[in-house]
Amino acid sequence: MKKIDQKAILEPIDRTNFRKLFNMQLRNEQVTFVTPPRWTLARCYVKLFGDNFEHLPHLIRAGDEVVGYATTVCDPDSADSYWIDDIMIAANYQGKGYGRAAMLEVLQMIAARYPRCEAVQLTCFRTNLSAAALYVSLGFRPTGGVDEEFGEPNYKLTGDALAKFRP
Ligand SMILES: CC(C)(COP(=O)(O)OP(=O)(O)OC[C@H]1O[C@@H](n2cnc3c(N)ncnc32)[C@H](O)[C@@H]1OP(=O)(O)O)[C@@H](O)C(=O)NCCC(=O)NCCS
Repeated sequence: MKKIDQKAILEPIDRTNFRKLFNMQLRNEQVTFVTPPRWTLARCYVKLFGDNFEHLPHLIRAGDEVVGYATTVCDPDSADSYWIDDIMIAANYQGKGYGRAAMLEVLQMIAARYPRCEAVQLTCFRTNLSAAALYVSLGFRPTGGVDEEFGEPNYKLTGDALAKFRP
């Protein structure tokens, strides 16, 4: 199937589907790029970023397959505290267009769910060249700042590049 044909659906993670997270594997060289899938639920449960943030974990589905996960952490009352905390496509599904399809869904979800959102942010490790290429192609730009937790570069999507995702 051509990459452009891929569709992804975000499915909120709950007690019925959370076990799907646990089988997802990355390539060895990728494991530091993203929170291990089990940990993403823990970070959401303890509201790691603070009570004012909505912590939302989603499975990424493509048809009947679960191909990855994405977690957003957003302060609905803010202008620019809307973070894609993690996104991962499992190794055996990578390079087929699911990551791009999932990013489009995540950005549309954020734009629809949070009317005050004026910027979507994320952190991408310097050595994670393929993820950075994906983000830049969607309109994200480096802010010049670094993430407090990892010291890695932050990226921001704003202005017209974000407006494309509004309902
Ligand atoms: C980054 C990731 C989410 C991309 O998902 P994916 O399904 O492999 O990506 P896609 O097939 O949709 O490709 C999307 C874009 O990513 C980039 N990309 C993907 N694989 C690449 C590779 N091997 N080399 C260079 N760029 C690549 C390209 O810009 C590509 O653009 P294209 O659609 O014009 O080809 C996925 O590889 C992943 O989960 N990696 C490990 C975890 C991780 O790094 N998460 C992000 C943390 S910031």
